[in-house]
Amino acid sequence: MILAIESSCDDTSSAVICNGKMLANITAGQSVHEQYGGVVPELASRSHQQNIIPVVDAALKKAGAELGQLSAVAFTQGPGLIGSLLVGCSFAKSLALALDVPLIGVHHMQAHILAHFIVRAGEEKKTPAFPFLCLTVSGGHTQIVQVEDYLRMKVLGETTDDAVGEAFDKAAKIIGLPYPGGPLLDKYAREGDPHRFKFPKTRMSGYTYSFSGIKTAFMNFIQNNKQKDAAFVEKNMPDICASYQHHLIQVLLDKLIQAAADTGIQEIAVAGGVSANSGLRKKLQELSGEKAWNVYIPDFEYCTDNAAMIAQTAYYKFLCGDFCRMDTVPAARMEL
Ligand code: KG4
Ligand code: ZN
Repeated sequence: MILAIESSCDDTSSAVICNGKMLANITAGQSVHEQYGGVVPELASRSHQQNIIPVVDAALKKAGAELGQLSAVAFTQGPGLIGSLLVGCSFAKSLALALDVPLIGVHHMQAHILAHFIVRAGEEKKTPAFPFLCLTVSGGHTQIVQVEDYLRMKVLGETTDDAVGEAFDKAAKIIGLPYPGGPLLDKYAREGDPHRFKFPKTRMSGYTYSFSGIKTAFMNFIQNNKQKDAAFVEKNMPDICASYQHHLIQVLLDKLIQAAADTGIQEIAVAGGVSANSGLRKKLQELSGEKAWNVYIPDFEYCTDNAAMIAQTAYYKFLCGDFCRMDTVPAARMEL
């Protein structure tokens, strides 16, 4: 039985896994950032400190578990906001030390990918077969990863600048939507025409992505149109959101299609916060028919940041005795 903690950004989460079955996954969000239009790192650390004990307590209760039953304590080691990571790391170390059980440090992006293997007690689920390709799309990352085994992964390509989640959130901010704008932009996009407005494609070689140019193009597009009509955004909100979202999805999938063709891999997964996007989920389902791909999309609960994915990854690390020392430190940046 492993207790896991996730605190890499602005969600405090705790989960309990027992013999590979997820018993509990409890997450507390942080509304304090809304008024600033983005995550304020220092406020995030303070909220984690306030939330961590109640969240861990709730996860243990939900799982019907006692501290004395734990075989290990796991935490997100990185990448993420250093102050936020420190809270989860320090808490996990103290608990592991007090209980005299091993400590397991988990890579946040590896965990997003392994969220595909989360099963609750009594649940049956079709999981990706190795090797598979995973498009990992979050607020901080955009990568195509070739997954050879649970703990063996290779990044085929990634973004050179902004992550696609940022491209969603920053565009949402430009059109006046509150933070985090990604889910709201998605909501408007469902009512709009995805072909009404066109945005330029950036030409990057191989599987490399770039989103900062697209974001600037979007900003210029909005400014130019607002000069002609001050109410342009209000009048065209659904079409603006649908067209921009369609463009981002196209950019993401063009490279994924190329990677699938080049590697001959037809097991295709998506992971990370942006995998909650309805347009991306729909397009991937369509592609599964067109390309004869087996497509894997995580449950909504496991798309955005959660400790269940940390617990799942820790379970595989526990099985091969991959523990970390008590002087392990969190890392804002960390290679997969
Ligand atoms: O994985 P995640 O929860 O945190 C990070 O590790 O970054 O991802 C958060 C990102 C944010 O940029 C958020 O706007 C985006 O995921 N996101 C979405 C949707 N739901 C979350 N973006 C587009 N459409 C959504 N439905
Ligand atoms: Zn994440």
